[in-house]
This record gives sequence, C-alpha cells and structure tokens, in this order.
Amino acid sequence: MKATARAPSNVALVKYWGKRDRRLNLPATGSISVTLDGLETVTTVAFDRALDADTCTIDGTADPRGARRVLAFLDLVRTRFGVTEHARVRSRNDFPTGAGLASSASGFAALTVAIDAALGLGLSREELSALARRGSGSAARSLIDGFAEMRAGTAEDGSDAFAVALGPPDLCPMDVLAVVTTHQPKAVGSTEGMERTERTSPYYRAWVEQTLADLDAMREALRASDLERVGTIAEENAMRMHAAMLASSPPLLYWNGTTLDVVREVARLRQGGEGAWVTIDAGPQVKVLCAPGRGEHVAARIEAVGGVLAILRSRPGRGAHVVEDAA
Ligand code: PMV
Repeated sequence: MKATARAPSNVALVKYWGKRDRRLNLPATGSISVTLDGLETVTTVAFDRALDADTCTIDGTADPRGARRVLAFLDLVRTRFGVTEHARVRSRNDFPTGAGLASSASGFAALTVAIDAALGLGLSREELSALARRGSGSAARSLIDGFAEMRAGTAEDGSDAFAVALGPPDLCPMDVLAVVTTHQPKAVGSTEGMERTERTSPYYRAWVEQTLADLDAMREALRASDLERVGTIAEENAMRMHAAMLASSPPLLYWNGTTLDVVREVARLRQGGEGAWVTIDAGPQVKVLCAPGRGEHVAARIEAVGGVLAILRSRPGRGAHVVEDAA
C-alpha cells in the first residue's frame, strides 16, 4: 500500500491553452512536449487504514494550495477505484524550490504513478496518462519518455485524451535552459487564465485553428530531427498563445521586463548564427531550446542579462517511473 515515483517536468513545444470540458479537464486541442531530464518531483504515497484523513506535504511543508489539489485527486482515485483508505503523501521537487518552476506536471505525474503502484492497480501507460490529466493537463505528458503528444480525443468521457510517445529522448537531441526571472508565484493560474482566454479573447478561435497546423508541422519536424524547424515552430506557437492571452479582457500579461530582455537576447544570439529559440508558459520564466552541447555557451550569454536569477540546464529525458527510495 506504499510506493514512490519520480516524474520529470516537461515543456510544451506546441502548447495546450483551452479546454473542451472543464470537469474532466479535457483539452480543446492536442499538444506536443519534451520531457525534461533532472527537473523532477519525487512522491511517496502510503494508503493506511489507520488514517482518518489524508495528509500531504510538499517540500517538507503543508502547502495548502498544492495540497488541496492533491486531496481532491485522492478523492477522485478513491471513488473511481473503490478505495476506502486515506493516504499520506510526501512530495519533494528535485530542483531548487522557489525557482518558480515547481510544476503541477511533474507533481501529478509522480502522484499518479505512485498511487498506481501503491494500490497495485496495474494501469497501462495510457490509462495513467489519462488519470494524471485529471490533476493537471500538462501532467499527462510527463508519463512519456522523450517526446510526447497529448491527444485531445473526441470521447465524451475523456477516455481517449491521453499522451502518446512520439519518440525517445534521442529523437531530436537538444539542450533546454530554464531561465528564472522571478521567485514570485504567478498571479493567474492556468485554469483561470484559459477560461478567460476562451471566454473573452477574440483570437482564441484563431489560436485553436493555428495549433492544429502547428501540431502537424511539429510532428514532422521532430520526425526529421530538424532542430531549426522544431525551435522555430515552438517559438512561434508560444508567441501565438501569448497573443491570444494578451487579447483577453482583462488582458493576461504573464511576462516581466526580464522575460522580454531574455527573448531579445535569444533573438540576438540567433542573428549571430546560434541556433536558439524561446518558449514561455503561463508565467514569466523562459525556456530556451538550443543545439546539444551549446547550452553552456547560450546560458553564459543569458546569465549576463540583468534580472536573470538562475538558469537550470536540462535535455530530453525519461518519463515518470516507480523508484525504490522514499521521498
Ligand atoms: O497543465 P496546466 O493546467 O498547468 O496547463 C499548462 C499550460 C501551459 O503550460 C501554458 C502550456 C502547456 O501545454 O504546458
């Protein structure tokens, strides 16, 4: 009744921003991501008959916001699989806490895999992915090694909305930098932000349509291991998402001044012949994609940008899996 899992974060190369069903957390479109080596969450789950309530600590403290979502997820699991025991959940992020990168993706992927092992559910990778999706849409992709495509699916019950593998970590080698520009938590969470964009942005429909084309182009670029195409599509797709967000009412502006300075520095690097591209999620941190082995050089240039607080280096890695050591 006890197990531990390790799960990585991931960064979307074609983003998910919009839902077709809020209750089942079904995305409006698919998305494509790269699983990030080293930026991981380790989670231990123990179901115990002696407990009369669930407990949850994240990085050693009872973080009420994160814990609330974890407890709701445990309720969902109990209802779905007929489990009566409460659980003790202990989770830690294997990257600097407060880096603004603590991700619901790695968290819910690790939690899902640990629950499956603790309860001996024997779920398939696809079932695990669909379950992780209920915790966080992006978590569904952290189940997969290397490159993942989340399928939007068409089934009303969401049973076909899960991530599938596009290829192993060496399908398209790259270095990925996570550039930290603030330690502040983001002002508007992704669920609220998506809802606002869907409801008020005149560009939302165009975003959804364009994403379908970006998915086809990205799949092809990855298959050809064409990093230049991958980087270009990823950067353009991220900018399109932020354009749709900006056009919301009230506007959703996730960037700070340093975010923009990093975007400009990467453009300058590119003008100088370096293959480097940015992507940005619902927050002010920037991820930079560059050629394998070039991460150190690119990081040195970005480090010199005023306001950059930290840079974490990563590359395509392995998806969520069970481990022996407790969190
Ligand atoms: O999984 P959520 O609800 O945190 O949403 C993720 C949204 C983005 O990070 C902006 C895009 C993505 O596909 O990861």
